[in-house]
Amino acid sequence: MTLFAFYGTFTSTQPGHRNLTGARLVERTRTAARYRLYFVDGMWPALIPDDDGVAIECEVYEADEHLLRRLAEIEPPGWSRGPLELADGRAVEAFIADPALAAPGEDVSLHGGWPSFREWLAATRRRRLPDELRTERLLLRQWRDDDAEPLAEIYTQPEYLEHMPPRTLEETRDQIERFRRLWAEEGFAQWAAEELETERLIGRIGLLRHHDWPLEPSPVEVGWTLHRDWWGRGLATEGGRACVDVWRNELVDDPRLLSITIPDNVRSAAVMQRLGLTQRGTAFWHGLDVVWYALDR
Ligand SMILES: CC(C)(COP(=O)(O)OP(=O)(O)OC[C@H]1O[C@@H](n2cnc3c(N)ncnc32)[C@H](O)[C@@H]1OP(=O)(O)O)[C@@H](O)C(=O)NCCC(=O)NCCS
Repeated sequence: MTLFAFYGTFTSTQPGHRNLTGARLVERTRTAARYRLYFVDGMWPALIPDDDGVAIECEVYEADEHLLRRLAEIEPPGWSRGPLELADGRAVEAFIADPALAAPGEDVSLHGGWPSFREWLAATRRRRLPDELRTERLLLRQWRDDDAEPLAEIYTQPEYLEHMPPRTLEETRDQIERFRRLWAEEGFAQWAAEELETERLIGRIGLLRHHDWPLEPSPVEVGWTLHRDWWGRGLATEGGRACVDVWRNELVDDPRLLSITIPDNVRSAAVMQRLGLTQRGTAFWHGLDVVWYALDR
């Protein structure tokens, strides 16, 4: 067993923590005041030794070599195993970043640790988006109680269920409540999508901020679901394009817009591609192997 310190997305409050399954938390502590913490590529926490350093929050684990080798494989290039000095002078190991990453990175040491920096980042990126958006054929609007039944009807359609999990009427009501809460707390969530011509609820389209995405801190995702009878008319693309514009013009501190799906949901991936998102990678998220697309600012 090796005593290994983690300071980033693998720590106990962070979305990458499941990667440490099998390791035992020994203590929560700080490094010696000989490091600085950088935010690299809008994604990665990088601990870099520095004579003018500060103490950075970390967690020390007992981990076996098998786990540490596996983690070394998923670390991005530029991070490698090396000695780390704790606040009380003891030496453990950690993934230390190459000092060359300081230049392109942003020095976030004043936050004292990755979890505090992440909270600050999510708060600074928070924006209130418009309650309503109009496109040529759609009204994207706030949720009403009487949206639950038409939305739940979509969730029973075989075409929907081919790639998506079922949801009862009660669960659909909970989802609408969640969207309303997110509108209040985060400043946005998916909108209810109404067809202008018929004034009918035909689905949901919009943006969600995911604080539990394992690969980068709290990104924004664009997503869509439509009633089967409204597929094939370019409506998801039309609503999605309005969302891309809102991200571009209003969520100005979010460098990237994601869209996430499962690999065989080709219709959803086709919408992503029509909007200019490109496939970037895979992840394990909410118990599923997913593929993610992105558009950079
Ligand atoms: C994902 C989903 C919203 C995509 O619906 P869609 O109808 O394929 O997508 P669009 O509304 O952009 O329509 C595109 C289709 O309309 C056609 N079209 C017609 N007019 C168009 C226009 N003005 N612009 C773009 N496409 C147009 C396209 O050629 C395409 O046709 P196709 O059916 O031959 O592929 C829908 O499949 C769905 O609700 N699925 C279930 C829920 C789901 O999986 N959500 C995503 C979770 S990640």
